[in-house]
Amino acid sequence: MNPSDEIKSRLDVVDVIREYIQLKPAGINFRANCPFHNEKSPSFMVSSEKQIWHCFGCGKGGDIFSFVMEMEGLSFIDALRLLAPKAGVELKAQNPELSSKRGRLIEVMEQASKYYHHVLMETKLGTKGKQYLLERGLTERTIEDWQIGYSPDNWEDLINFLKSRKYKEDEIFSAGLSIKKEGTSRYYNRFRDRIMFPIRDVNANVVAFTARVNPEKEATEKMGKYINSPQTMIYDKGKLLFGLDRAKTRIRAEELAIVVEGQMDVITAHQHGFNNVIASSGTALTAEQIGLIARYTKNIALALDSDSAGQKATDAGNRVMKRVEDVSRIVEGEDRYGNIKKFINPSKELSINIKIIEIPSGKDPDECIKKSPEEWKGAVEGAKDIMQYFYDKAFADADLENIENRRKIVADLLPKVAVIGSKDKTEQDFWVRKISQKINVSENALREELGKVRPEAEQPSAVAANNFLKSVAVRSREEMLSEMVLAVALKFPDHLTYLINNLSLDHLIGHGIRGLYNNLVIYYNKSIDNWTQDSQNESGEPGQPQTINYKDFRKWLIDQQIASEALNGDANIVNNQKPKEINQPELLDRLALLADKDFFDYTSEQAKNEIVKIVVLLKKTYLLKQLREVERLIGQTEKQENNEIRLNSLLEDFKLLSDEYKELNKIDQ
Ligand code: UTP
Ligand code: MN
Repeated sequence: MNPSDEIKSRLDVVDVIREYIQLKPAGINFRANCPFHNEKSPSFMVSSEKQIWHCFGCGKGGDIFSFVMEMEGLSFIDALRLLAPKAGVELKAQNPELSSKRGRLIEVMEQASKYYHHVLMETKLGTKGKQYLLERGLTERTIEDWQIGYSPDNWEDLINFLKSRKYKEDEIFSAGLSIKKEGTSRYYNRFRDRIMFPIRDVNANVVAFTARVNPEKEATEKMGKYINSPQTMIYDKGKLLFGLDRAKTRIRAEELAIVVEGQMDVITAHQHGFNNVIASSGTALTAEQIGLIARYTKNIALALDSDSAGQKATDAGNRVMKRVEDVSRIVEGEDRYGNIKKFINPSKELSINIKIIEIPSGKDPDECIKKSPEEWKGAVEGAKDIMQYFYDKAFADADLENIENRRKIVADLLPKVAVIGSKDKTEQDFWVRKISQKINVSENALREELGKVRPEAEQPSAVAANNFLKSVAVRSREEMLSEMVLAVALKFPDHLTYLINNLSLDHLIGHGIRGLYNNLVIYYNKSIDNWTQDSQNESGEPGQPQTINYKDFRKWLIDQQIASEALNGDANIVNNQKPKEINQPELLDRLALLADKDFFDYTSEQAKNEIVKIVVLLKKTYLLKQLREVERLIGQTEKQENNEIRLNSLLEDFKLLSDEYKELNKIDQ
């Protein structure tokens, strides 16, 4: 067995998905609101029996790997790495897919991290650094947990160590651990004489370091208090949050992510049991980071150093609100019976709430927590909604007698209020009223001003909506009905005979569905032969109900598939451009899940009615198309000479088709 099959065989899709979202039982399956788009009624289904998931709202679906890839934003290989330990499967480094460059870089970083940590903990070189960390209040246990280290003050030891572990010079360089000596082919250690904090991605791979200056040299160091790994293949500063690998479970459980600025803030917070704390590493939150957090919670609280808090809150707030604006668009579409409905463009960012934690004492969270965990707790509980924060800040100590001041405040606040409006008009009204009362200006005047301001931080806004539309499988109503009718008939196989006698291949729309129906008819007819033989054997006894067994049919499909692959194998190698065939067993599973979702409480009679209804609809659509085509041909023929015979035959066709159409209309009534 290859590693991915092995992992699949050991993990249950239900358990894997349950770690991320709440699943509710629905018959033998589970259902939930889809985590990949916004919806009010759950169309996300998980089948333990079939080990698949599928959202009938946005069309996404697959197995455990595709779920984790989608949820965590990972490549297949990384999803494999994430799930392997859960399944107790060991991935061998020799495995060629895995010894990809990325994988090598992650390994080299892990080795470097172990090295630095060893130097700090076990050698004389690290004594002072360790002393410093202990003095700052970290426990030995914390230093271990976070694998904090020390890079000694020399040029080559790390490089030599890594080379002795069979890593190549260019791998060490690509990981950002070394710097090339200008004009030579020699390398030297990037980090020297610094306290080393490994930065891990959401799956706990070391992807970078942030390195704090030796405290004794803090005053004289020219390079900066912290130096960081450069951007590498495995590290993109703006897409990562320090501590998220450890904090994500708590963030989900507490429904709150607290974002601080520094590594030390995170580490101290965790040491004191505040485990939902992460850091943006000194920069304002990026849109990617917000998206990353949104996988776990919609509630973000920013705890910002007081000196820079104002601007950073503004930046982050704008970014969040901007995202909200980007995606809060209404999309029109058809539901499955062809009625036009309005859908809110679904996005999980839609309802992000941002709060600001004001730190009462001390310069940063680290100091505040050390001084008084209680005080920190209070500050978190008292976090202000971002707009309230802006409002309070704008009016703090402002002399409102001065007109110029009032004008400034309005100019500062209105753009922020404008952004809110695209998310929530009621909230916008609330703030307009509040500001108007405070500065004694009429609401209408403010509203007029509001009409003129553009929200801050403009960004291309159609992009998100477009991406969404692309991500939703656009399928016609007939295509959906075609799937639906097969789905019901498979769930209630007693009605298969009716379906097969009344619906021909031509009536169905959709390449995959037609292929599947074709096979279903073949299989059904084969089975009929067996039933007839059976009933001949058992004289007098009533025959078996004429229907097929789902599992047998599925197995037969797989056999067919294998047979056809064997037949076409050579051709495929020669012409690998050939489009991938639709995987029929997978389609069958998806249809079964669809039936479980929409028809789980149907009686056999209701199911029959649904089948009849859809068959009529599909046939009518088919006939209408035919009628239009014949009409077109009649028009064409009328213009030709000597057209009598042909015209008569077309008119005959037209009459037959329209009679059939009228018949169908009667059934419909
Ligand atoms: P701070 O200057 O607030 O540092 O920068 P700190 O976390 O409080 O560190 P201590 O307590 O003095 O040890 C906050 C964060 O900004 C980034 C680092 O990620 C740091 O944790 N930073 C700061 C840099 O990247 N480079 C710098 O030169 C300074
Ligand atoms: Mn600090």
